[in-house]
Parts: sequence; structure tokens; C-alpha cells
Amino acid sequence: MNNSAIGVFDSGVGGLTCVGELRRIMPCENIVYLGDTARVPYGTKSRDTIAHYARQDIRFLERHDVKMVLVACGTVSSVMMTVPIFEGSSVRAFGGVIEPAVEAACKATRNCRIGVIGTPATIRSECYADAIKKIRPDIRVTAKACPMFVPLVENGYTSPQDKVSRLIAEEYLEVMREEQVDTLILGCTHYPMLEAVIGEVMGEGVTLISSGREAARAARDALEKADALTDRREKGALELYCTDSEELFAENAAAFLGKVDMSISKCSLTI
Ligand code: DGL
Repeated sequence: MNNSAIGVFDSGVGGLTCVGELRRIMPCENIVYLGDTARVPYGTKSRDTIAHYARQDIRFLERHDVKMVLVACGTVSSVMMTVPIFEGSSVRAFGGVIEPAVEAACKATRNCRIGVIGTPATIRSECYADAIKKIRPDIRVTAKACPMFVPLVENGYTSPQDKVSRLIAEEYLEVMREEQVDTLILGCTHYPMLEAVIGEVMGEGVTLISSGREAARAARDALEKADALTDRREKGALELYCTDSEELFAENAAAFLGKVDMSISKCSLTI
């Protein structure tokens, strides 16, 4: 048993898709979340810059005595496959979104055609295709970077009625329809906020895999295995930190999580 909080971070609000699932499946856990909203997006930046930001994010969470750090950012998770961003930190348990999403997608596909959408950095790294090929070399993978999805989400254009979101989704996802993928990995944790419009564009027979939700489930399994779940019986606390405007973050957090008890504070990462 371990009553310390679970630390979660992302470049912005996208990682809250992961937090929503953590709270659904482990309601009594305390959660400390960091969204680096002053520097979002990470996905258009270089590997070195992303790794540098990620190390600062980890250092921030470390100071909150967390029992685990969940990298709820597809972009950082992709960098983490080749750069040891946790090296030198006191964090002993950590997880990312790639492997859990890949496992779920490989289970879900029936026609052996999986699509992956993510930020330019994630897609450029080819980490999803590599991870899929490792366990299922027979699967054909189609990957596409969707850089305009993150600003749409950060600015609240998430309804299927938003014409701009629909138009951009149609443009980005055309290749997925041509390739007849039956399973699409939302490889960036912001994208589940666009699930309705993505689902409509892809059509009914396509399974959408939320990388953030899958990572939350894998985190629960890891904590359970390590006998590190809380024994608290009451609802866990949710502490949110952002590096830019608390007001905008609060609006977005409410859109992701609904009306829940949470504290929101602005913090600085230049440490
Ligand atoms: N939520 C992030 C991801 O999963 C981020 C987007 C970004 O910062 O570009 O990749």
C-alpha cells in the first residue's frame, strides 16, 4: 500500500483524458497533474527540446513526492523510447502511452490495418509502427501527423458542430479511410477531445483507441502488481498545475473532466 499521489504530466490539457480515466478506475488515489501550457505544443519541437522540457516536468512532480509518474503525453512518450529522461531522477515507477495503446489496438483490429495519428514529433519517431511490428509484424500501419488538432483542442474547438474541426479532420483522416484502417490510435492525448468528430469522419466500424485512457489502465495494473495502490476509502484529491493562465486552464479542465473538486495553481518550471 502507498498513499502518495500519482504524478501525471502533459504539455497542456490533453493529459487530462488520462486523469479522467485514472479517477474513474481509481477514485481514491490522489493525483498531481502538471500541464506545461506556457510551452504547448511540444509536438512541433525538436527531440532535445522536448527531452529538456520533460526533465523539468519530472523534477516538478518529484517535489510532490509522487509514487509514480505517468507521462500522459504522446510526444514525450515517443522521445522516452530512445532518450532516458528519467535518468538521475528519484522517480522509481513511470509509464508512457505508447505500449498500452499499441496493445489495445493489436487486440482490437480485425483486418490487420491500424492507423496512428499524433503530433509531428511522435509520427516522425515511428515509435508506434516499431512497437506494433514488434508484437504483430503482420499488421499494416498507416501514420499521419495532425499538427492542427492540438491548437483546436487548447482553444476549445472540440464540438462536431465546429466547422473548422470537421474540415481539418476530413483532410487529415482521408488517408486512413483510403487505407481502410479498422482501428485508429489517437496517439496524442489531446485527440480524444475530438473523438466525436474523428469518429464521425472515420465511420462506425472503426475502433478509436485513446492512448491516455489505455495508459491509465496500465498504470493501475502496475500499481496493483507492486502493491502500491492507496488504502484510502474517500475520494482522492486532484491538484492541477499549469505554467500559463489559470483561467484558460480551468475552462479547459472543466471541459475535460466535468464539474469536479480540484485545485488549480500556476507554477514555474525554471528551476
Ligand atoms: N498531448 C500531447 C501529446 O500527447 C501533446 C501535444 C503537443 O504538445 O504537441 O502528444
